[in-house]
Amino acid sequence: MEFLNNFILPQSAEHIELLHYMLILVLFLFIPFISIVFGGSLYSVIYRRRGEKINDGYYLRLAKEIIEITTINKSVGVILGIVPIFTAILIYSQLLHDSQITNLNYLLFAFVFVSIALVFIYSYRYSLSFNRIFNSFSEKDTVTTDVIDDVYKLSDESERISKKAGIYGLIFLFLGLWFFVTALTIPTIYSDWKIEDFIAGLFSGNVLARFALYIFFAVALTGGMILFTFLEEEKKIRVIDKDYSNFVKQKIVRVTFIVTFFIPLLLVICTFGLPESSLTGTVFFYAIISIILLFLGYHFLYLLSKEIKGTVAALLLLTLIFSIASFIISDQKAMATATKFHSASLSAQFDEYFAELKGDGMTVEINAAELYQVKCASCHKWDQKLVGPPHLEVLPKYVGNEAQLEAFIRNPSKVNPEYPSMPNPGLKPNEASALATYLLETYNEKVQ
Ligand code: HEC
Repeated sequence: MEFLNNFILPQSAEHIELLHYMLILVLFLFIPFISIVFGGSLYSVIYRRRGEKINDGYYLRLAKEIIEITTINKSVGVILGIVPIFTAILIYSQLLHDSQITNLNYLLFAFVFVSIALVFIYSYRYSLSFNRIFNSFSEKDTVTTDVIDDVYKLSDESERISKKAGIYGLIFLFLGLWFFVTALTIPTIYSDWKIEDFIAGLFSGNVLARFALYIFFAVALTGGMILFTFLEEEKKIRVIDKDYSNFVKQKIVRVTFIVTFFIPLLLVICTFGLPESSLTGTVFFYAIISIILLFLGYHFLYLLSKEIKGTVAALLLLTLIFSIASFIISDQKAMATATKFHSASLSAQFDEYFAELKGDGMTVEINAAELYQVKCASCHKWDQKLVGPPHLEVLPKYVGNEAQLEAFIRNPSKVNPEYPSMPNPGLKPNEASALATYLLETYNEKVQ
């Protein structure tokens, strides 16, 4: 990832803070979306297999509808699935610039895996739709035999794609998320991260706890999304297959209930896995909000298990999204604290860089008196001869002629035969300039 250094400029403390906020924003877009795609693929692949095994049309129909609901469409997939990882790579490369610990290699893998996964998952989605079209086609006998042959061929092909693509997509997305969560975890526990080995990093306790948390969140969030969309659609389309609708609701409410149960526990494990130094009040505050929202979610789920209502499903989806958002903030605040020292050193670098850009000794000017003590006071006094002449004697000719004094200090030349030559003090231009100003200012004060 060395090439990234070309994009990176030193950054000010304000810029670093801004980057933290941008990162939170990127995660707000990416995590809920990719969670729902993952959850949707998981539900869909499982229901599809079940449907084939017991030859149940409801399961097959549900498998198809779930993947359609959760993947929205291809351009959304690119915008919300791939662009954010790329942006995260740019942000982290700035935040962790010059650091021994990096998460960029994991992010790069996540980027590749998620991209591959999305290709598979969208093929899966479209092949499921084709399956249905083909099935309805072959049932009609009105077409000629060679068309039927083609239909069978394509239909087999489409079946094959949907069988494989779903599983492959799911596996790649699983890996992609795992690498992504690892990349998220490393800066969060920055001060505690001591694992050098790339693979071992994936199996660190903190990573695994977070990964489990996100997977459970993904399944719960998908449940909320499916229930919500189903009820919305039922409202729009008046033709309702009551049996199917009940089948869906019961299945999804049950699964969502079970997974949501584990989330608070995992949340607590993740929070207490943070280094002690980054467990700030803010981190706790957002973690607790996240848990409270989850309990609210339970309440809505409970209501849904009694009676299925659209508004309740919408509330459930919202509480789950806010809960995950709150956890993201908590985690990112922990990261900001954990990388505090690194950020400070980055912004110090920036200050230096900026002073150099401006060309003057913004930072040095303040230290001129000190610099004088270190570099000059051993040979000079104001009113007495030491090794060099007393300043009060030699400075008058430099009044109103600071540039010349600066030039002398930087590179002394022989002046007075009664003295030895002054050795070159080896100053930077801005230091010499600061000293010249300091000398003339002090001189004026003394003469007045
Ligand atoms: C090792 C001793 C030594 C140190 C350290 C030293 N000087 Fe000098 N300085 C001298 C001597 C000797 C002269 C007389 C040189 C001459 O007349 O040729 C002198 C001369 C000067 C003069 C008078 C130049 C003139 O035009 O007559 C100034 C101004 C001056 N020094 C400033 C400084 C400043 C500022 C520093 C600290 C960065 C410094 N000196 C450090 C020994 C020193």
